[in-house]
Amino acid sequence: MVDISGLETTLLARVKESANPQEVLRASEFRNLYAEIPNMPVDQRREFGQKVNELKQSIERAIETRQAELVAGDLPPIDVTAPLDINATAPKLLPAEQGSLHPLTQEIDRIVEIFGRMGFIAEESREIDDQYHMFESLNFPKGHPARDDYDTFMTVQKDKDGDPFIAPAHTSTMQNRTLIKYRDQLSRGEAIAAIVPDRTFRNEDLDARHEHTFYQVEGVYVAKGVHAGMLIATLQKFLEEYYGQELNVRVNPFYFPFTEPSFEFALSCPFCKGDDEFCKVCGGEGWIELLGCGMIHPNVLKAADIDPNEYTGFAFGCGIDRLIMMKYQIEDIRHLESAKLDFLEQF
Ligand code: FA5
Repeated sequence: MVDISGLETTLLARVKESANPQEVLRASEFRNLYAEIPNMPVDQRREFGQKVNELKQSIERAIETRQAELVAGDLPPIDVTAPLDINATAPKLLPAEQGSLHPLTQEIDRIVEIFGRMGFIAEESREIDDQYHMFESLNFPKGHPARDDYDTFMTVQKDKDGDPFIAPAHTSTMQNRTLIKYRDQLSRGEAIAAIVPDRTFRNEDLDARHEHTFYQVEGVYVAKGVHAGMLIATLQKFLEEYYGQELNVRVNPFYFPFTEPSFEFALSCPFCKGDDEFCKVCGGEGWIELLGCGMIHPNVLKAADIDPNEYTGFAFGCGIDRLIMMKYQIEDIRHLESAKLDFLEQF
């Protein structure tokens, strides 16, 4: 009779050393055990067969362990309980009373609050968008030269039409979505009145007035009988409320494919008051451009399934960083994204 427990010790040792432990199950010693069963007296077969099975299970468990060791190689095991160690020292966090909201966050809250009181609802934009929302829905067909006016960052990945995605260069990317989302209000006699304060990105030369990452607040207002006078009055009201004083505003005609007519709003430069031809903020112009705006182009309304013969509207896109610069007389826009504590602690 074979010594099964002696054989187990031998085979387990072989599994422990093998680079291919599975082969131990095919060892001749195993085959011999099974071959022995038919030659045994019938009354011993059952007990013997059971022992052989137990041996096989023991070897299989050892094989699993050995295989796991081989996968892990010689690297030490990772102690997954360490992060949960209740004896570990607590991380040192800045006490809450020493932190404060970033000035951009504070001012965006203020902008949302003022427009909220004027009846505008706030929506969020996104940080990656498609060419349709950046261009086509805004009346920039493919090949339109004004597409090049926006120095857009694009992804290597392409959408289903083979076009790269875009980091939005303006919050106007949200016009189409906002018009579609709220257009049912029009048939109930309610205006569409929404703002979108969010991040925008442009691949352009940086200076005291230009950042690659900055914030804009978009506004759209659509109803029956909306005209340019309402646009100018709305913006002037907002700016006076935001700055808490009457302002010297310049409104010039401008061009955007998605508004007709279009305008540009500028504020008189609070740094040089127009007296310094070398002013590094306004470049000696005496004015700082704050926002673009105009009456929404009929094609933009049509793209959102709104009948331009029945409804008209205005839209605007204002640089939030520039608004803040003027409010606090910050001479360089780049301070805002600098994360410098001596700057941030002033707010
Ligand atoms: C636009 O982005 C249009 N989408 C605005 C618009 C919306 C027009 C709706 C009509 C209807 P513009 O490129 O001029 O237009 O930018 C608008 C404002 O964003 C500027 O007046 C400025 O305040 C701010 N801005 C633009 N580029 C930068 C930059 N690189 N850094 C900081 N602020 C910027």
